[in-house]
Amino acid sequence: MKIDEQTLIQAALRARENAYAPYSGFRVGAALLAQDGTVYTGCNVECASFSVTNCAERTALFKAVSEGERHFTALAVVGGKDDTPQAEITPCGVCRQALYEFCGGDLIVLMAQDEAHFTRCTLAELLPAGFGPKELV
Ligand code: THU
Repeated sequence: MKIDEQTLIQAALRARENAYAPYSGFRVGAALLAQDGTVYTGCNVECASFSVTNCAERTALFKAVSEGERHFTALAVVGGKDDTPQAEITPCGVCRQALYEFCGGDLIVLMAQDEAHFTRCTLAELLPAGFGPKELV
């Protein structure tokens, strides 16, 4: 990783400020680090038709992929209710699968409260025996 973990978490915290979560009040920010050192950020975007909601992690991933990026090394995610302290949250199942498509199991995932308090794991730990592109060749 060309930037440190604290910097990636700070980017996720900043992205969380843009969260659009009027229905759940649960605001999430994510920062995805590409192999070349570029950071792509995202927040959750809710809709009155609830199922249309997009998680922060997929916002960051789809922004990156739509910019032509394909290789990633780390993801930081932060989240919590508006009026309570942030807790460490793990990416939802749909986001784990979407991340697996491009990042594989080696992606480092930082689940953070803030720069000083976070848990580090790999995507393979969050999605063991994942089904991915290799299965279709
Ligand atoms: N959310 C995320 O953005 N990422 C996750 O990994 C878990 C859930 C969002 C979706 C919804 O806007 C809110 O958090 C409550 O589920």
